[in-house]
Amino acid sequence: MIMKLTKIIFSCFIICCMTCADLQAQQAIANVYGREVRSLNGKWEAIIDLYDQGRKNKIFLNKKAEGKTDFYEYAFENGLRLNVPSDWNSQMPELKYYEGTVWYARRFDVKQQPAKRLSLYFGAVSYRCRIYLNGKEIGSHEGGFTPFQIEVTGLVKDTGNFLAVEVNNTRTVDAIPAMAFDWWNYGGITRDVFLVNTPKVFIEDYFIQLDKYKADKIDARIALSDKVAGTPLTIEIPELGVRQSLTTDEKGTAEVSFNVKKLERWSPQAPKLYKVIISSPDDKVEEMIGFRNIYVKGEDIYLNDKPIFLKSISFHEEIPQRKGRAFSEPDAVMLLSEAKALGCNMIRLAHYPQNEYIVRMAEKMGFLLWEEIPIWQGIDFENEQTKQKAGNMIGEMVMRDKNRCALTFWGVANETQPSAPRNEFLKHLISCVKDIDTTRLITAAFDLVRFNRDRQVFVMNDPFIKELDVVAVNKYMGWYHQWPVTPDKAVWDVAKGQPLIVSEFGGEALYGQTGNADVVSSWSEDYQATLFRDNLEMFKHIPNLRGTSPWVLFDFRSPFRFHPTNQEDWNRKGLVSDQGYRKKAWYLMKEYYDSIK
Ligand code: GCU
Repeated sequence: MIMKLTKIIFSCFIICCMTCADLQAQQAIANVYGREVRSLNGKWEAIIDLYDQGRKNKIFLNKKAEGKTDFYEYAFENGLRLNVPSDWNSQMPELKYYEGTVWYARRFDVKQQPAKRLSLYFGAVSYRCRIYLNGKEIGSHEGGFTPFQIEVTGLVKDTGNFLAVEVNNTRTVDAIPAMAFDWWNYGGITRDVFLVNTPKVFIEDYFIQLDKYKADKIDARIALSDKVAGTPLTIEIPELGVRQSLTTDEKGTAEVSFNVKKLERWSPQAPKLYKVIISSPDDKVEEMIGFRNIYVKGEDIYLNDKPIFLKSISFHEEIPQRKGRAFSEPDAVMLLSEAKALGCNMIRLAHYPQNEYIVRMAEKMGFLLWEEIPIWQGIDFENEQTKQKAGNMIGEMVMRDKNRCALTFWGVANETQPSAPRNEFLKHLISCVKDIDTTRLITAAFDLVRFNRDRQVFVMNDPFIKELDVVAVNKYMGWYHQWPVTPDKAVWDVAKGQPLIVSEFGGEALYGQTGNADVVSSWSEDYQATLFRDNLEMFKHIPNLRGTSPWVLFDFRSPFRFHPTNQEDWNRKGLVSDQGYRKKAWYLMKEYYDSIK
């Protein structure tokens, strides 16, 4: 009964969020790291609000007893403090499994410049939140992995501004992800928080990319924060001798296409980025942007007009040694350096938009990227509000990363089951993506490949794949599924005529556990190595295979994983252990990727 009541309460919470349209957070500004920002990161005061009493008791007013009879049963000062950014789970033992509400608060002084506008920017808050400034609710957001911002011009005072953030990570049936998923349900203000200063009319958004097929034509679209027509803008790419002038229309937007000479297209081997400067009379923003072509022809994926094989790997946004979310640039370097050492040219960022440091660093280091929102297995596909939320979420992801040329695949689902509601839901997501970006490849991962005994081949039956540019399959041969034939006879007839990626395969091993190379339940490195050898053999018999992505780079935390000695709340499919040690299978994968030119 309590659980049911909780769900009703939280569905109301969400409905209330969704209906308070004016309180909805705004779309985040493009390239916040290239703006005039002041960090609000650091130690914030916190209150654990397990029974959700805080909003009812208006603790965001931060009242203090004055007269003899006043009393308030709370105070933010001199109590719990939590690091921002970070999940709360890894900051104190009592919060390891915590699902519920935590209030964060901090004060800040700010000299509001009359000719400027001020916004509060959050890189991500997991999973839903309400923002209160100086005792007033100013916004809310749902979705644990995408940025949002709230304008606070005129709402701040010179000193002593009190900012409170009500964060809740309780799983609900209509959320994305929903009630059960194979990773840790980290909660908190998990990414950077900034005050962003902008001119009154500023360059709010821009999208600058190479034409889908042409190697010398750049398309640019710029939007001002206000619908001001006739504003002169310029786009400069100094290294290419580009200086384009354009003027905004009545919507405050402007578009231009122009040809360039001697453009060096970005690739994993040569991740060339150009300084791009966009200026208006009052604003100027610059960013390193790369240019490349990506498209499909028949069963091949072409990067810069050459067929490519995707040597991919997946990882969660987690630093295993710290048992917490990754959130900083050094974290990004650690995760990506291990992928580079493995010989990868692509990362499938599982299963949600990861922080911008990872995306930008991956582009600099030379990785193609697959990004997805957590449409993971059981989603409430028949719920119209959930569909709208998912559309918002994927739009926020595409808006944030659309200028990252490394981003080549938008994933719209992971292991969903065929149904008319699911198809409609995913088609909605695809249209939300294409409303913003029509050039990147749309994909989705399925776990529907089965062995057909009559034909003695592996097959898959989900007509939805025709909506995709590239089909991806998660298949755990040797782990969840035992071999129906020997690996050298494991022939696939899946998604003929389309490029196919094996987007997940692998099995678990506890680092240092050896022996029993043919015993699945040994959790030995030797069995994991056997499994990888067998899968690499099977890959030779998938005619339209154009990429592989072992699951997963590092052991990661998951409440799914109960085994008391082999797992202890860890999914042990990592090629690298939670302490950073490479298992035997890592070396097999390295040899396989190095053998592919
Ligand atoms: C699924 C799923 C992963 C999960 C993996 C596993 O394929 O996509 O998120 O972690 O299987 O079972 O380890």
